Amino acid sequence: MQNTLFVCVLCRSSQLETNQLSPGQILFDRLKEELANCDWNEAICLQPVRCMGACSRSCVVALAAPNKLTFILSELSALESVAELLQFSQQYSDSASGKVPYRERPAAVKQGIHAVLPPLPVLPQAIDLTS
Ligand code: FES
Repeated sequence: MQNTLFVCVLCRSSQLETNQLSPGQILFDRLKEELANCDWNEAICLQPVRCMGACSRSCVVALAAPNKLTFILSELSALESVAELLQFSQQYSDSASGKVPYRERPAAVKQGIHAVLPPLPVLPQAIDLTS
């Protein structure tokens, strides 16, 4: 199953104004670098996104997969949340439903929960009206 970690690369923060890179881009780059060193990295697709509509709560990421919960996390530190985001991504990819028990979630994830969405409903089989 494909699990996708969406990362807004346009997120800016007053806490971290550096050179030309946005904190969102810094977060994405660090996640990409660290994920490459994980032996489970094929379980996660890291996907850059240009804004997820929560700009005042940067940095923003979302973790989603078919038939799983979708987690939207915000107010993440570009510098300090990388290890915990990867830990949670692994927990999520290991879970059939995406329901990582609250007590097992890393602190940055517990603090950063912006929304949790249920899986999309499974559409009924298309009805063949021609027969
Ligand atoms: S710029 Fe990141 S959510 Fe809008």
